[in-house]
Amino acid sequence: MDLSAELKRYVARVEHGLALHVPFASTRPARLHTAMRYSLEAGGKRLRPVLLLATAELFGVRDDTPLPAAVAVECLHTYSLIHDDLPCMDNDDLRRGRPTAHKQFDEATALLAGDALLTHAFGLIAESYALRPTLAHALIRELADAAGSRRLIGGQMEDLLAEKKADVTPEELEFIHLNKTAAMIESSLVIGGLVGSAHLAELATLRRAGRDVGLAFQIIDDILDATADTATLGKTAGKDAKADKTTFVKLHGLARSREIAHQRSASAVAELRLLPGNTAFLCALVEQMAARAA
Ligand code: IPE
Ligand code: IPE
Ligand code: MG
Ligand code: MG
Ligand code: MG
Repeated sequence: MDLSAELKRYVARVEHGLALHVPFASTRPARLHTAMRYSLEAGGKRLRPVLLLATAELFGVRDDTPLPAAVAVECLHTYSLIHDDLPCMDNDDLRRGRPTAHKQFDEATALLAGDALLTHAFGLIAESYALRPTLAHALIRELADAAGSRRLIGGQMEDLLAEKKADVTPEELEFIHLNKTAAMIESSLVIGGLVGSAHLAELATLRRAGRDVGLAFQIIDDILDATADTATLGKTAGKDAKADKTTFVKLHGLARSREIAHQRSASAVAELRLLPGNTAFLCALVEQMAARAA
């Protein structure tokens, strides 16, 4: 299997889905829709929607049924980035190689564009799966749990509370990473499974794998913030240390962080291999992600 060719194929499907399933920039009010598309179309790795599409394929879904769900997940993720970058949160100037939304537009527009992307995610699912109400219900519930106050937003809250704090425990840091980041990655896999009518035991396996992928992913994000350059990342490098964020690098050091990320990625691959279908692409993708922080 040619990982980079396969990945390109999935990313192209996601880009096509984004073009199709998000209001045009010219929709009134144009400033708002332009800002939504500005952040969405800045690029990004599209990891979550790719995981979703590839998981659905494991369960035999090769058509575009999962595409609106994949777009919804990317809209929700992009909202979380726009808000994460706001001056009252991480105060970042650069995202996906471009000025952040509040720099390009203004704070109020960035706030509203984020709100609108979050809301659009749920509307898109309700509309796209209206003929499969049981599926629509399961997807909305899954996404609401992952993005809600106990998970993504809860993780973001504790991330901010842990800034400039010397006594954050490893358990607290794991809570932050499992929720601010792993929740949405876990959900991407589970939603792929739901669209593919996966059984309960398979959904549980997807959730475990997603949890491991997600934790590894955020540990690697922490490592790259400390080791990579701004041009490679498309976001300002070194900002975690500057803000005195509690990260894996701060708490465990670089070497140990790399070890933990590799362990979690290996567990994820072992879990993915338990699933039906050809898991080669998903396993290779997780391994490539782990190698980013080698
Ligand atoms: C950035 O996510 C936020 C984290 C959870 C670390 P990504 O690294 O997936 O960002 P994009 O979507 O590729 O821009
Ligand atoms: C952000 O974590 C996680 C979410 C956006 C929910 P970070 O704050 O580490 O992400 P980056 O480094 O700004 O992309
Ligand atoms: Mg943050
Ligand atoms: Mg940030
Ligand atoms: Mg980061």
